Amino acid sequence: MQDEPYTSRLEQVREQYKAYESRPFDITIARGIPSPKQLELSKSLLDTMEQTDWMSEDEQDIRNYGGLLGIQEARVLFGSLLGTTIEETLVAGNASLQMMYSVLIMQMYTGKANWHSEGEIKFLCPSPGYDRHFSMLERLGIQMIPIELTGSGPDMETVEKLVSQDSSIKGIFCVPTYSNPTGETYSDEVVERLADMHTAAEDFIIMWDNAYVVHHLYEEQEEVLNILEACKEAGVPDRPYMFVSTSKMTFPGAGVAAVGASETNILRLAEELSKQIISFDKLNQKRHVNFLKDKETIHQLMAQHADLLRPKFEWIQAILEAYFGGERGKFLQWTEPKGGYFVHLTTANGCATEIVDKLKQVGIQLTPANATYPYGINPLDNSIRLAPSFIGLDKLEVALEALCTCVELVTLEKYGEEF
Ligand SMILES: Cc1ncc(COP(=O)(O)O)c(C=O)c1O
Repeated sequence: MQDEPYTSRLEQVREQYKAYESRPFDITIARGIPSPKQLELSKSLLDTMEQTDWMSEDEQDIRNYGGLLGIQEARVLFGSLLGTTIEETLVAGNASLQMMYSVLIMQMYTGKANWHSEGEIKFLCPSPGYDRHFSMLERLGIQMIPIELTGSGPDMETVEKLVSQDSSIKGIFCVPTYSNPTGETYSDEVVERLADMHTAAEDFIIMWDNAYVVHHLYEEQEEVLNILEACKEAGVPDRPYMFVSTSKMTFPGAGVAAVGASETNILRLAEELSKQIISFDKLNQKRHVNFLKDKETIHQLMAQHADLLRPKFEWIQAILEAYFGGERGKFLQWTEPKGGYFVHLTTANGCATEIVDKLKQVGIQLTPANATYPYGINPLDNSIRLAPSFIGLDKLEVALEALCTCVELVTLEKYGEEF
């Protein structure tokens, strides 16, 4: 510590923590879900259906079975987000995660790929990443290899080396825009290298989860190159599967998800899905088209979301800067995302689990430390994810101050005078 002996500072933070123990909180900043105010922004979506409005543009009765690829107008709308043609777009049900799982099952058990017949299968997992991607891979017995993120996507040298040598590495999971949880967006160079790289596995796939494609916090927007176009140019059009959903535009769990891929892959996926479902909810697809209309209308809606989210992100930056700016940066580093739903904290090594536990003991729930790593294993024990979207600014301020106290307490207790 620069201004006071660490022992007296440690006493102060211990006292502060005791005060929290005597008056515990009840605050959760664990999962990235929209706040009630954000949900209000889409309430008129429920009134967009005319009682006579039952035919889609491609003459499907949206009240009935059929049309597994989605109604035409929804395929056009989601194609505008994915950067795909109608033929390269499948509009599905309410969860992009379910589509990701369906793609993996298809690759594992059917058709030419039939990975499970090859024995051990591996996936590259840029980390920290999204825990639900990792639990999906774990469930399917696919071995995960963590890959470091650089601030503009995965460490491509390592990726290229591994995929060129090992034919059991069948894919990579990417969140290319405002990544969960680091907030970084993949650079053009990274996208091009992912498309161009030689893979020992001929059936290597890129799971391109563009969940935060329009989730900008500021007018200046980060945009990622179109991976399908890059892969077409590189002669590997069947490599990427791209995913988006309206979960964080309209209603999570009651939105619409879409997949973008080569026409061959879309038809294969539709065939696979036909073994699970007769058709998705086309009424909801139509409601979403009526409400979201086009890219411009989506951007206007997302700007309203941003107005609600931005103060929370800026508040976090201000508090962290006040506590750990300058010399005190050795206690904690944090990301400054320009979009998405998360701020990622890097603590001193070996401190993250205890910080999260200490917060839990005083009634503040965070995502479990290191949950953002495959199998929840991070040997450095230094990763904490903040998800500030749901709670109000008042609670966020309290939670952040308690977090800063716990960061200091745990770090000082562990490292003592070294700090
Ligand atoms: C990266 C990422 N992908 C997918 C999802 C979930 O999407 P969906 O609701 O479409 O399944 C989330 C939700 O937090 C996410 O962060």
